[in-house]
Amino acid sequence: MTDVGGDNAIEVRGLHKAFGTVEVLRGIDFSVARGEVVCVIGPSGSGKSTLLRCVNLLEEPSAGRITVAGTEVTDPDVDIDRVRRRIGMVFQSFNLFPHLTALENLTIAQRRVLRRDRAAAERLARDQLARVGLGDKAAAYPAQLSGGQQQRVAIARALAMAPELMLFDEPTSALDPELVGDVLAVMRSLARDGMTMLVVTHEMGFAREVADRVVFMDGGLIVEEGTPKRVVGAPRHERTRTFLSRVLDPAAARVDGTGGPDGPDGPGPVTTPPLRPAP
Ligand SMILES: Nc1ncnc2c1ncn2[C@@H]1O[C@H](COP(=O)(O)OP(=O)(O)OP(=O)(O)O)[C@@H](O)[C@H]1O
Ligand SMILES: [Mg+2]
Repeated sequence: MTDVGGDNAIEVRGLHKAFGTVEVLRGIDFSVARGEVVCVIGPSGSGKSTLLRCVNLLEEPSAGRITVAGTEVTDPDVDIDRVRRRIGMVFQSFNLFPHLTALENLTIAQRRVLRRDRAAAERLARDQLARVGLGDKAAAYPAQLSGGQQQRVAIARALAMAPELMLFDEPTSALDPELVGDVLAVMRSLARDGMTMLVVTHEMGFAREVADRVVFMDGGLIVEEGTPKRVVGAPRHERTRTFLSRVLDPAAARVDGTGGPDGPDGPGPVTTPPLRPAP
């Protein structure tokens, strides 16, 4: 197995992905260093989810090489289940098992995939539920939890597998605005603990505050990337500016007088309206 990734947690080279005749990713090169938090932003349909799904081979790339934690996942001989075990994935929809309690949602993969015994799996599950602020919800079923709590269970479930990196695909965009903050707080603390994170998000406040790097995608290409301050604060490309001006509605930023997303309570009001820009 070729190690093209060096010290990077994720290395993507010349990635193309077509669905039929439609080329959705048109040559993506990028990497995520260990411990780095990278936020991917961009309009609907630009290929953000497809990129994430290629990283853990939920989609098979049409061309290119992807290396995750030193293993080339695009190597035809790769044991992809082994690689996937090292990657935590959190989606917009929480994908919890409705007939299992929070605790059981966290133990099932540990027991089946990692072959941990019940006691060890439950101990780890309780640790992770506590970590996301849900230590008292172990016995609750998903239907008894709010969307934000369900998403935190989903994050805890991924963490219980002790992943080397976490992929998030719009983890807060299905949530009511008042529930977004708790989920972002969990993600912020994960980032502080040094987790490698690749996050597709429209939460510009979060991106500005937490991301080491922001990647702006449009039309299946990376248009620009850099520090949040640079990309969000001083975008170089017209397409980035247009996208950001839609997302960062200046009128919304002044609603409560805090002046934007950088206030003491983390993501400010600019992050709370539905931020999906018009296609
Ligand atoms: N399985 C599929 N079959 C055919 N086309 C697909 C498939 N998955 C995605 N696409 C198309 O690929 C393009 C990129 O989709 P993708 O979901 O990656 O965009 P996105 O940037 O995540 O958008 P959004 O912000 O709406 O989530 C879209 O035009 C979409 O319709
Ligand atoms: Mg998407």
